[in-house]
Amino acid sequence: MDTILIIDFGGQYNQLIARRVRENNVYSLVKPYTITLDEVKKINPKGIILTGGPNSVYQNDAPKCDKEIFNLGIPVLGICYGMQLMSYMLGGEVLNASVKEFGEILVDLEANPLFENLEKQNICLMSHSDYVNKLPEGFKKIASTKNCLYAGIANLDKNLYGVQFHPEVTLTNNGNKIIDNFITLICKCSKTWKMDYFMEQKIKELKNKIGNKKVLCALSGGVDSSVAAMLLSKAVGSNLTCIFVDHGLLRKNEALEVEEVFGNRGDLNFIKVDAKNLFLEKLKGVSDPETKRKIIGEEFIRVFEKEAKKLGTVDYLVQGTIYPDVIESGTKGKVIKSHHNVGGLPDHVDFKEIIEPLRDLFKDEVRLLGLSLGLKENLVYRQPFPGPGLAIRIIGDITEEKIKILQDADYILREEFRKNGLDKVANQYFAVLTNIKSVGVMGDFRTYDYLLALRAVETTDFMTAKFLKIPYDVLETISKRIVNEVPFINRIVYDITSKPPATIEWE
Ligand code: XMP
Repeated sequence: MDTILIIDFGGQYNQLIARRVRENNVYSLVKPYTITLDEVKKINPKGIILTGGPNSVYQNDAPKCDKEIFNLGIPVLGICYGMQLMSYMLGGEVLNASVKEFGEILVDLEANPLFENLEKQNICLMSHSDYVNKLPEGFKKIASTKNCLYAGIANLDKNLYGVQFHPEVTLTNNGNKIIDNFITLICKCSKTWKMDYFMEQKIKELKNKIGNKKVLCALSGGVDSSVAAMLLSKAVGSNLTCIFVDHGLLRKNEALEVEEVFGNRGDLNFIKVDAKNLFLEKLKGVSDPETKRKIIGEEFIRVFEKEAKKLGTVDYLVQGTIYPDVIESGTKGKVIKSHHNVGGLPDHVDFKEIIEPLRDLFKDEVRLLGLSLGLKENLVYRQPFPGPGLAIRIIGDITEEKIKILQDADYILREEFRKNGLDKVANQYFAVLTNIKSVGVMGDFRTYDYLLALRAVETTDFMTAKFLKIPYDVLETISKRIVNEVPFINRIVYDITSKPPATIEWE
């Protein structure tokens, strides 16, 4: 299978590059910049992409790859830092820019295979403080902006290309076309990679790693953990036990629904643990979102450890962590929110290892994998539900009364979405119980009750999202039903922010 090797210099979009290559049906492999020349030769890629990164090439400790990579006769595409590094290592000059470029900028493109079938001008995401000032021998300019003469460069004879902008992000128009041009027109890859291939590879990998040891899988009934469980089941058979923890913070009827889908599947050895009292006790009086997340992350692990002890020796715990969970939990130091299964994990975990087979995939890719694994469409396309559940949709402290209020309100929202076909349009939709109370009037009586917020978004990868433009009459029906049918709510608002600047969940 034709392979594109992605050499990682620490940029935030690196997995996105891998994903774009996969989207074009070509296999991609991300390796750190320390990869040796021999390792590169062994992989025998049809093309190499050098990623962006936070460093400047002229710093003493700047990450560099082996210079001989440029002499292998393999096409190379350097992106941002990758382009600067290639220029610098091949004898060009890189300087700190007096005018830095951040944001979507108009780029003039010149005809060459990388920009085949693109207009002469294209909006591209630029995000750089350094720039290439002098080209290495044999290179020419193929793109420029008002402030950056060399926004794209190429040595056409050697198939070495560089772009200062980021073709991997959707903010760059036709970015995917540029990546496609590189892998098909320049690297001549055949588009044969499919999600089935990822599946087979992963199953083989998991089989080799786990052998005949026992494995516990944290199953929430959501897409990610269900797909992880199916993979594991195919890899280790009856050595897999799936634990579903009911922490009392699930949506109305959810525990029953999960049990119905998975309880009878002998291959998963499904066990439901009722841990409602334990979680609610630990969360009593806690209102800080990050503290809630940390408590939940820790309690999940403690429940799994306890269940593992009952089964004898269990070496591995499997989680359905996906790439956005990793990014938001701040692997590079910037925490947005500690996803319960990544940043929310306690320091000590009583398992030999936590296995996360989906860690490099995006949500829509996990769904494709789910289909390849034979999961039913209605499960694969379920809207996501976060591990910490309603705990992060009840703003402020959590009580049983608030959980019940939110469950009932959320149920009505979901019912009305289904009736009006909006469940097919929104990728995630839910209610949030705020801790604001306001004055209302019902009949002849004053009320002083909770403000409920409704949230619905459209997104593909959950890294960015747009709020859904719900018809007013549907909003009106939902609002009327909730205030009439759910006690202690007297006011409803609709969240009209996108991500960024908001996130999808409120906490
Ligand atoms: P945000 O709120 O970060 O959410 O825009 C992005 C997606 O991730 C889900 N989410 C979580 N999922 N554990 C999970 O399994 C978590 O701790 C968690 N926090 C957010 C969220 O529902 C949305 O789909």
